[in-house]
Amino acid sequence: MTQKHRIQARFGQAAAQYDYHARLQQRIAQTLVARAGLSESGALLDIGCGTGWLLKHLAGRAPDARLIGLDLSKEMLATARHGWPCDAPSPLWLQGDAEALPLKAASVDTVVSSLALQWCEISRALDEIIRVLKPGGKALIATLVEGTLPELTRAYQTLDRPSPVNAFPDVDALSALLDTMSAAEATCAIRWEREDHPELSGALAHLRGIGANTPLNDAPTRLPARRFAHAFKAASRGPGFSISYRVAYLTLHRLDRS
Ligand SMILES: C[S@@+](CC[C@H](N)C(=O)[O-])C[C@H]1O[C@@H](n2cnc3c(N)ncnc32)[C@H](O)[C@@H]1O
Repeated sequence: MTQKHRIQARFGQAAAQYDYHARLQQRIAQTLVARAGLSESGALLDIGCGTGWLLKHLAGRAPDARLIGLDLSKEMLATARHGWPCDAPSPLWLQGDAEALPLKAASVDTVVSSLALQWCEISRALDEIIRVLKPGGKALIATLVEGTLPELTRAYQTLDRPSPVNAFPDVDALSALLDTMSAAEATCAIRWEREDHPELSGALAHLRGIGANTPLNDAPTRLPARRFAHAFKAASRGPGFSISYRVAYLTLHRLDRS
């Protein structure tokens, strides 16, 4: 099974219960689009749309936009389709890979993507976003960067075990990548986002429930439970057991060269 297939399968398994566990994801998606001026018409693409929560939110803000929801997982897309309100025009649902978007060049006015691109080769995904954006178009992206899930990383360190936390892009490397993009103007703001759980089981259920328990490395995941809980709590920033995401909020403006 390739890594893409593992990611696809894990999110497929998570689709049915995803929204129940995704309060933090929804808060991040809301932050992503809160202050941005978005085009109220034209084509709006959500890459890694999951269960369609952000598209539903945007449907009210951009009622004349032609919405496109794209995701690697067909189960996520099925959940999004079933949960779409019947009184709103249905988006076009596309199964596809952010690294090879099944869309024509310069065909999209707005791209949004929340917490999906950390599962991709980010440089390829950004190239694809710029390719499909029309000149003058805009992309809003939230993605995870290095430092994410410090509680888990530290708990594994304390137990002297290799961490299963995925390697996320380094902020300096990401900034350097944005600087190399000649076809778009980019901004990047880094913020910590955190959710606290009274029980370790709640914190781990959150990670499982949103399908984020797909380590892209071979670290063993089983540990002595009590020592692990103690180390996790000691590493948490808030009360109880914290899940902390370090989020890069990116804005790309496709330059109008005409
Ligand atoms: C953490 S969920 C985020 C879903 C939604 N954007 C949200 O904020 O609730 C990540 C989503 O990205 C999708 N995904 C992962 N890799 C992808 C890729 N290469 N191309 C498209 N979607 C991908 C997963 O299937 C999953 O639905």
